[in-house]
Amino acid sequence: MKIAILPGDGIGTEIVAEAVKVLKALDLQFESEQALVGGAAYEAHGHPLPESTLNLAKAADAVLFGAVGDWKYDKLERALRPEQAILGLRKHLGLFANFRPAICYEQLTHASSLKPELVAGLDILIIRELTGDIYFGQPRGRRVAVDGHFPGAEEAFDTMRYSKPEIERIAHIAFQAARKRGKKVTSVDKANVLETFQFWKDVVTEVHAQYSDVELEHMYVDNAAMQLVKAPKKFDVVVTGNMFGDILSDEAAMLTGSIGMLPSASLDRNNKGLYEPSHGSAPDIAGKGIANPLATILSAAMMLRFSLDQAEAADRIESAVRSVLSAGLRTADIWSEGTQKVSTRDMGDAVVAAVRGAS
Ligand code: NAI
Ligand code: MG
Repeated sequence: MKIAILPGDGIGTEIVAEAVKVLKALDLQFESEQALVGGAAYEAHGHPLPESTLNLAKAADAVLFGAVGDWKYDKLERALRPEQAILGLRKHLGLFANFRPAICYEQLTHASSLKPELVAGLDILIIRELTGDIYFGQPRGRRVAVDGHFPGAEEAFDTMRYSKPEIERIAHIAFQAARKRGKKVTSVDKANVLETFQFWKDVVTEVHAQYSDVELEHMYVDNAAMQLVKAPKKFDVVVTGNMFGDILSDEAAMLTGSIGMLPSASLDRNNKGLYEPSHGSAPDIAGKGIANPLATILSAAMMLRFSLDQAEAADRIESAVRSVLSAGLRTADIWSEGTQKVSTRDMGDAVVAAVRGAS
């Protein structure tokens, strides 16, 4: 097993260090190599995704990624911004399926912005298509408008598009995931307005014919945004396009209390994957040693399960996380009265101790 470790910027380096400690505590056989990515790589090599980093990621069985970005890079041209590194990795590794579980841990029910009874026991899985849609569709750019409301004015445009095979493969993944869980898929679209998403709806319906044991429901994205805060437990697996998935998965993240708790996996067709916390580089708290490392530690667990065939080791990490939460340890983002506030490093150490204790 070969793991590429790409910490990135901001809190990325702090939280990845903790996840690596936890991986090492499992005493598994794996090789790992670390490389710069994002702003850190830009500073050293003048590019957010240097050839050497990309090659390391390509050669590995899995990539553990921290986060990239900082406001200080906002003035760089788009191709040199740190965020291009993650887009480039997704594209070059063919990572089209993004899994974002939103799980409300029993111990954190009160950290949610919703009433405890709405989120207690919440366990939903958002599957976002990651390499298509308006984020990658061509053509895009700026020009002088020849028609529309203001002919002659400067305008900008992007293109929303999905091909049938792109929709089919993500639909299969969603139905297969639902089979192992609550046996329900909600496909989120905007078929009432967008041709791309009428097509999405038609193709998902067609694929569903092969999964009669799974229930399929279609929902418009605006309604899905409402239902997620009204009755989130009604969802099991949610499958949607790149842009809607981006927004809905952040919304779902908030239901669970903190984005600092949420892992993610991005997979290619051979289950090779990139694993990263759902949050960004959090420049507002970077360097302070207070970031929550659990999203990254849980991402490492997903990596063991999906890409490295080590489900048992993944279970050990997940139960270690539950036990440190039960013991009352909390980083600042999930702290509440009566619990013990700990640093990034203390939280990592506690998970390491729990993993060792359980072995
Ligand atoms: P963000 O997720 O970095 O931060 C949002 C808020 O959540 C901040 O208040 C932050 O302090 C808090 N937060 C995030 N992770 C946390 C953790 N582990 N523990 C405790 N608190 C945490 O999103 P934001 O502020 O929109 O973006 C900051 C930078 O990150 C930008 O440059 C953005 O482009 C980049 N970004 C990178 C991503 C990636 O690397 N995949 C994803 C999202 C944003
Ligand atoms: Mg986002």
